[in-house]
Amino acid sequence: MSAYLDHAATGPMRPEAVEAMLPFFTDRFANPSGAHRWARDARRAIDEARDELAELLGADPGDIIYTSGGTEADNLAVFGATRSTSREPGRAQPGLVVCSAIEHHAVLDPVEHLGGRVVGVDPLGRIDLDQLADVLRSETELAEAAEGPGVRLVSVMTINNEIGTLQPIDRIAKLVRRHAPDALLHTDAVQAFCWTDIAHITRNADLV
Ligand SMILES: Cc1ncc(COP(=O)(O)O)c(C=O)c1O
Repeated sequence: MSAYLDHAATGPMRPEAVEAMLPFFTDRFANPSGAHRWARDARRAIDEARDELAELLGADPGDIIYTSGGTEADNLAVFGATRSTSREPGRAQPGLVVCSAIEHHAVLDPVEHLGGRVVGVDPLGRIDLDQLADVLRSETELAEAAEGPGVRLVSVMTINNEIGTLQPIDRIAKLVRRHAPDALLHTDAVQAFCWTDIAHITRNADLV
């Protein structure tokens, strides 16, 4: 007998998910951007799913962005936020991104590519909050002195995909607001979505 023990990486689709998706591989297949009846039916299904997701996440339906999966969503958050204009008008330079050392490579690789800062974790995988505060404070001071863009994004995952560490998102959010008020807080919630009250534990994050 063999047992598959890698479900945190990927697993078989649940029968109810297969059943819910089957019509869209067969009868309800149309391009949702079209104007005809079949297209509008597909569009309706997408919008209904958007409403359900928004409710689960405690978000506005208009703020839901569909991606192909976790890697694309993480890449979009990191590259998108650092390259977007800042909350402060007129400061459009790409900013610094900060993440924890325990992020998935979907976050770590773009952060390294952008020359960002990586904050250490303790033996249980919890981010070092003092080090995070120091990094945010010093980078914000440096940016103010140089009139640069400063920290644009802080990315700390909700639950780790290998050791299951739950990060203190509320406390991290407080540090970000206090020491880098121009930054957005992103949390990769890939591993948290099915198992936690996601709306509650990510309520102080800007991007989930
Ligand atoms: C925490 C975390 N982030 C990102 C990803 C990447 O997601 P995907 O495989 O959908 O690109 C995974 C995949 O398991 C993950 O566990």
